[in-house]
Amino acid sequence: MTTTTGTTTSTIPPVPGAGPSGVPEERRLQKLGELFDVRGLGVVVTGGGSGLGLRMGTALAEAGAHVTLLDVVGDRLDEARTDLAEQGLQVDVAVADITDFDQLDALFDRLEHSEHGLHVVFANAGISAGIGPRLRTGRITDLDRERWQQVLDVNLTGAVNTMSAAARHLNTGYGRIVVTSSVGGIRADPMVGYAYASTKAGVVGLVRNAALELAHRGITVNAVAPGLFETNIRKANPAAEAMTADFVKVSALKRSAQLPELEGLAVYVASPASSYVTGAVLNIDGGGQHVGPNDVEL
Ligand SMILES: NC(=O)c1ccc[n+]([C@@H]2O[C@H](COP(=O)([O-])OP(=O)(O)OC[C@H]3O[C@@H](n4cnc5c(N)ncnc54)[C@H](O)[C@@H]3O)[C@@H](O)[C@H]2O)c1
Repeated sequence: MTTTTGTTTSTIPPVPGAGPSGVPEERRLQKLGELFDVRGLGVVVTGGGSGLGLRMGTALAEAGAHVTLLDVVGDRLDEARTDLAEQGLQVDVAVADITDFDQLDALFDRLEHSEHGLHVVFANAGISAGIGPRLRTGRITDLDRERWQQVLDVNLTGAVNTMSAAARHLNTGYGRIVVTSSVGGIRADPMVGYAYASTKAGVVGLVRNAALELAHRGITVNAVAPGLFETNIRKANPAAEAMTADFVKVSALKRSAQLPELEGLAVYVASPASSYVTGAVLNIDGGGQHVGPNDVEL
């Protein structure tokens, strides 16, 4: 369904029958507030200067968390902080490269001992490996080994660096690690490069083991697996248009996602509402994981 509010057109369906429920408003808000209360939590989001990371960080900041956006591109962080300040939202920013463990360790150590502490880490930063076997240039026979290594360094080693630094410095008693995987790591996907598919599957393995290791400290570890969101990551993929068309064709909802559709999951997975969820892969892909690669032409 397409709805239009003011000048923006949204494909997010409205809530049917939204309005008074019969439950006293104060009690209703109290219930929601308790379940999804992230006020006062210290949150870090890697890749926070753009796209999914920026949107998740913004949602957490709007919900009352103390958010640090981390990115390797300082200009993106400056722009994000300025934009958010204009909306009345304060966030901290940190320039760091997730491939450098020492940078993360030093930052997380500082945050652990800061006024707000460190409760939630989104290991979200990642890069594209370009097109997969759908096009000849992405086939395994023509593997771009330099790109393979770059993508492994950022998407897999960068993710484990972030998780490792988080595990060393997260608050004990209430902690969350959330790693951004992808639908491309959950099922075969001829639209994404081999390195991308491998690293996004690889982080799921990291999440499962770390969930077991860290449970006794009250730290949950989960992956989110997005489908297609229109962000800057697509600029590195010359076949982005074909990728979109294919994804829309194979997903159940027959559309790509809008960034606001990520907000609920970001708050949920950071909040008390997800207290019994760990080692899980939370798909947010419009039903894209249910479709086999044979539905996409090679
Ligand atoms: N957009 C999608 O459709 C989609 C789908 C599934 C998964 N994802 C994953 O979501 C995550 C975010 O992607 P996005 O779509 O928001 O992309 P994006 O390019 O908009 O944002 C990624 C951010 O990560 C930063 N980054 C890259 N390398 C870094 C490094 N070494 N250290 C620190 N920061 C670094 C970039 O500067 C950028 O700001 C990625 O892990 C991506 O693989 C995206």
